[in-house]
Amino acid sequence: MRRKLIAGNWKMNGNLAANAVLLTGIRSGIGEAHCDVAVCVPAPYLAQCRDALAGSPARWGAQDLSVHESGAFTGEVSAGMLLDFGSRYVIVGHSERRSYHGESDETVAAKAARAVSAGLIPIVCVGETLQQREQGQTESTVTRQLDTVLATLEPEQLTRIVVAYEPVWAIGTGKTATPEMAQQVHALLRMLLKERSVAAAEVVPVLYGGSMKPDNAAELLAMPDIDGGLIGGASLKATDFLAIIRAC
Ligand code: 13P
Repeated sequence: MRRKLIAGNWKMNGNLAANAVLLTGIRSGIGEAHCDVAVCVPAPYLAQCRDALAGSPARWGAQDLSVHESGAFTGEVSAGMLLDFGSRYVIVGHSERRSYHGESDETVAAKAARAVSAGLIPIVCVGETLQQREQGQTESTVTRQLDTVLATLEPEQLTRIVVAYEPVWAIGTGKTATPEMAQQVHALLRMLLKERSVAAAEVVPVLYGGSMKPDNAAELLAMPDIDGGLIGGASLKATDFLAIIRAC
């Protein structure tokens, strides 16, 4: 049985004072969450998350990591550094990293492999652009993106990841994939997992991301292969984030 996961992606937002309000709100409102909950925050705020969330059901993590273990890589943050601050998750291959930082499928796969080897759970993002959808390339795009990661991981590592389907045209736009559209892609992602590992298809949560909000979360989360959400904008307000957790 897969446990659902609601993960916030703060992106490059926040400051100490605003984070304190948000984290206190999450901690006090989370109650006995019936799903897993996490926030993925800018690396400088990991210590603040640890201090604010330790002992609560909520976990925390980062939004990127280096493919390298350590060394002369100015500006990079290693898996070990994320673990030093108690991180459980790290997002890899977010479309904003792929498009603004030129991350290839191979780079994303190497980052996922680094994360799993270090003991972090990578949240592997895949998703098509509007142009790709309009040209009928949704399935080929997400297949290529996910398969590159799955082919890079060792068979026994395949159960230690999370997958997130984030149609690029739905991110930060207020446009959400309909539950049926999302379910179709989620079922494909589940099949790709199953082709490599039956165990992974059973336990790996496949999250939906892209303008998930309190008012559309329940219908998306009701679909059989949607195991949670990766939430951008709505994760920055405790009441909205908690409402999505409750919808779960
Ligand atoms: P929004 O929820 O703001 O559309 O962002 C989704 C996202 O990119 C999460 O990683």
